Amino acid sequence: MTRHILAIDQGTSGTKALVLTEGEGIAASGEASVRPRYGTGGLVEQDPAELLESVLRAGRAAVAAAGRAVDAVGLANQGESVLAWDRRDGRPLGPVVVWQDRRASTVTDRLDGAADRIRQVTGLPWDAYFAAPKMRWLRDHLGLSGNQHATVTTTDTWLVHQLTGAYVTDASTASRTMLLDLASTDWSAEAVRLFGLDGLPLPAVVDSAGPVGQTSAFGTAAPVTGLAVDQQAALLGQGCVAAGDAKCTYGTGAFLLAGTGTAAPLSRAGLATSVAWRIGGAAAYCLDGQVFTVGSAVRWLADLGVIAGADDLDKLGATVPDSGGVTFVPALAGLGAPWWRGTARGALRGLHLGTTPAHLVRALVDGIAAEVAELAAAVAADLGRPLTGLRVDGGLTRSAVLMQTQADLLQMPVQVSARPDATAIGVGTLALAGLTGLLSADAFGRQRPATVYTPQIGADEAASRRARFRAAVDALGDEPPANEE
Ligand code: G3P
Repeated sequence: MTRHILAIDQGTSGTKALVLTEGEGIAASGEASVRPRYGTGGLVEQDPAELLESVLRAGRAAVAAAGRAVDAVGLANQGESVLAWDRRDGRPLGPVVVWQDRRASTVTDRLDGAADRIRQVTGLPWDAYFAAPKMRWLRDHLGLSGNQHATVTTTDTWLVHQLTGAYVTDASTASRTMLLDLASTDWSAEAVRLFGLDGLPLPAVVDSAGPVGQTSAFGTAAPVTGLAVDQQAALLGQGCVAAGDAKCTYGTGAFLLAGTGTAAPLSRAGLATSVAWRIGGAAAYCLDGQVFTVGSAVRWLADLGVIAGADDLDKLGATVPDSGGVTFVPALAGLGAPWWRGTARGALRGLHLGTTPAHLVRALVDGIAAEVAELAAAVAADLGRPLTGLRVDGGLTRSAVLMQTQADLLQMPVQVSARPDATAIGVGTLALAGLTGLLSADAFGRQRPATVYTPQIGADEAASRRARFRAAVDALGDEPPANEE
């Protein structure tokens, strides 16, 4: 019997849904965009109703286009984005605080005596990027501690509750909170206490594959059987199942993950250690690092009117040979791994009267690629061996200028996935495993690169361009901590 899965990737900039056919691949798709709201003090928010609506619209469109019922549903989520809601009726009590939001740095500043212990227990560096500081900030900010019906969770828990009535999160998403004991893959009472979140009704931590409830929200009744953070889903969707396999997804941010199998090594190079997925109670782990603003840096340039959109990375970027001496550190929402400087802000250096929009584009491309190269170096240091190549996916892999620059600065081949929707394919793979009990990364056809970019510059030039970027990072200014608003 051939099974069909509705695989939904609920991301920061929108929701993509695929109907996947076992043994074949993508049968149909649907899409709905989401627009975050940006503000002062590091504010990045979304409307919960818009998120849910985007899931329903994209999912229903994919099912309608496939013209058939599905056997199961998988849902990938943004990871560290949180919201407060009323458990009695699922009503949101405020906006979604998006993973890029920096306001919870007031919490990490106040509680920083807990940093070392939290890292040992949860595998995560001390930063307001992760969910628990945001959960604490939101609970305080909305004055919810006396409200026994209020909860604060990652977006997956709320969306799954809306779809099925269940109150769960999967182990991969829970591992992005700073509240999960990485070894037992269950909540750590100590971490919950250190964040002052005692009494918060945390959802049950479930496997990434397995039934959590039934939904008929997509015009077809089916169980939800796959849940994961989008980045971990993409790791699986790229076929990275062996320890040492690595991928980078270029979406709103860029996220480089490398599988570590059943070991959960604490990074010595500034990366995070997380659960990749948990199936039948057994966890697989990964190391990860991130560039916080990639697609959103491109959108920012477009909003400023410098470029028309992402297509200009190539259309405009290819009109000049290089950045004309301009360096752009795209730290528009702080710096993540391996620096963890949440209060750092972006910088443009080397501007002159001859600088054109095309040079700015090339400088942004260089900045993104240089940061990803630092992440790859950190992964190699932790694994004790260099990566031999990087599998990449996500919307911005369409830019030949970015991918060539990436191969140049990495000094290794960059393999662009033939299927840009690795996240949806990965969570669909988990949803299928949730039905069958068997995980097969090839369940929807084998993952193949469409294009492979190989380095076109020498090692010396790559090293000097990367050194120039690191010097620009070292020279970055830091903003004072965000004000409570
Ligand atoms: O950590 C946040 C990340 O998982 C969000 O991914 O695809 O929404 O940019 P994306």
